[in-house]
Amino acid sequence: MTGFVWPLPSADVVGDLPGGAVLRLRAPVDTDLEGLVVSGRDAGSRRFTGFPENYTRRDAALFLRTMMHDPGAMLWIVDDPDRQGGFGGTVELRLVELNSATVELGYTTAPHLRGRGLMTASVRLICEYLFDYGVHRVQIRANPENLASCKVALSAGFHREGTLRDAEFLRGEWNDLDIFSRLEGDV
Ligand SMILES: CC(C)(COP(=O)(O)OP(=O)(O)OC[C@H]1O[C@@H](n2cnc3c(N)ncnc32)[C@H](O)[C@@H]1OP(=O)(O)O)[C@@H](O)C(=O)NCCC(=O)NCCS
Repeated sequence: MTGFVWPLPSADVVGDLPGGAVLRLRAPVDTDLEGLVVSGRDAGSRRFTGFPENYTRRDAALFLRTMMHDPGAMLWIVDDPDRQGGFGGTVELRLVELNSATVELGYTTAPHLRGRGLMTASVRLICEYLFDYGVHRVQIRANPENLASCKVALSAGFHREGTLRDAEFLRGEWNDLDIFSRLEGDV
């Protein structure tokens, strides 16, 4: 028995950034649409994710609605640490298997905030929250060429388990994905 119940409470999750600023993962609001569009149109975001070309406000609104109504998914917005209430990124959570209390994370940082440790801190924070609520295993899958994403996983305490061959079909191409995990009790 893991004590794991899905869905988890969709509460704000609050912690600290390495420099001492507040890190807040919160529910999406309409004013996030603009930030989602900027993020979705960014070439660095598009390279390793399924954002369609010319990602629009309508696409972003549909994404938010879909996430809200998907019984197997949850979404937090990373609040911009420089501008309270601003859009700083997304953390997506998906249920992989209820019985083994296993979930998977996906993430994007707003382009103007990349390289400052925001996603590493966000993933660490959300893991604490997940383990508090009985999650046993958290997974991340990332293209091995996506060095920033792989670095986030490793810096947030995940272990690289191996490579899933041709595990993703993106824009007409098959990609390998590295799989990382962090278990409750891992240090
Ligand atoms: C992956 C992503 C979420 C990382 O967000 P971030 O807030 O910039 O992450 P952090 O600052 O916490 O950490 C990034 C790390 O990768 C490193 N990094 C960034 N680009 C890199 C590159 N091209 N080569 C090697 N390392 C790189 C950074 O130096 C940093 O390492 P450090 O902790 O030693 O300083 C962000 O780049 C992003 O949104 N990318 C587009 C969407 C995406 O790829 N999502 C993941 C899909 S699996």
